[in-house]
Amino acid sequence: MNSIPTNTGIDVSPSAMRKDPVIEIRNLKKSFGAQEVLSDVSLDLYNGENLVVVGKSGTGKSVLIKCIVGLLRADGGDVTVFHEKINGLNRREFGVMRQKIGFLFQSGALYDSMTVKQNLEFPLRRIRKNLSEQEIKEKVNDALENVGLSDALNKMPSQLSGGMRKRISLARTLVVDPMIMLYDEPTTGLDPVTSDEISSLINEVQKNIKLLQS
Ligand SMILES: Nc1ncnc2c1ncn2[C@@H]1O[C@H](COP(=O)(O)OP(=O)(O)O)[C@@H](O)[C@H]1O
Ligand SMILES: [Mg+2]
Repeated sequence: MNSIPTNTGIDVSPSAMRKDPVIEIRNLKKSFGAQEVLSDVSLDLYNGENLVVVGKSGTGKSVLIKCIVGLLRADGGDVTVFHEKINGLNRREFGVMRQKIGFLFQSGALYDSMTVKQNLEFPLRRIRKNLSEQEIKEKVNDALENVGLSDALNKMPSQLSGGMRKRISLARTLVVDPMIMLYDEPTTGLDPVTSDEISSLINEVQKNIKLLQS
């Protein structure tokens, strides 16, 4: 495909958008004992693309995500994120990489003993060490507004419904501005109406997530 010239000098043709995979997986293998869960999984994911991995329960979807974010070490193959091989990174480099990847756990996993506000401040204080208190406050408020739950700021997770907790988990992931979002069964276990609400929210998030400027 020929590139489309633009007056900005930036090549925005589909071929240019596609030329750099953001995530590259090659021949990924993972077994637990004699059980082979991932056998030669390969895929490319490009800037702006959304990929849904479908499979029955126990087929390795969560294991695949955990290998991408380094929560599990693969037995073979390579995962490359933003042109860097995950298994070639040292601890510090890996920490930097992880900050670019947002991960919504299947369970949501909020800290039960913290308020919603504290849950959202937690990753910000850990990852964005140079933010002022005012900036933290603004980021937390923005993140809550984005998921339609500004009122929940001072609530405890136990005071929220399953769908609300899921939204707060999403806000907590988004508050640090990830460049890639990974969702592990974001709507499983929710009633159909809540499940639809979360799906629309994720659609919005995916539209707004920052495109990689490369
Ligand atoms: N840490 C682990 N230790 C041993 N087996 C595991 C571990 N994590 C996952 N498995 C096994 O790997 C298989 C795939 O699991 P998983 O990726 O969670 O499936 P799903 O597609 O439902 O997300 C399952 O059989 C599971 O029991
Ligand atoms: Mg799973």
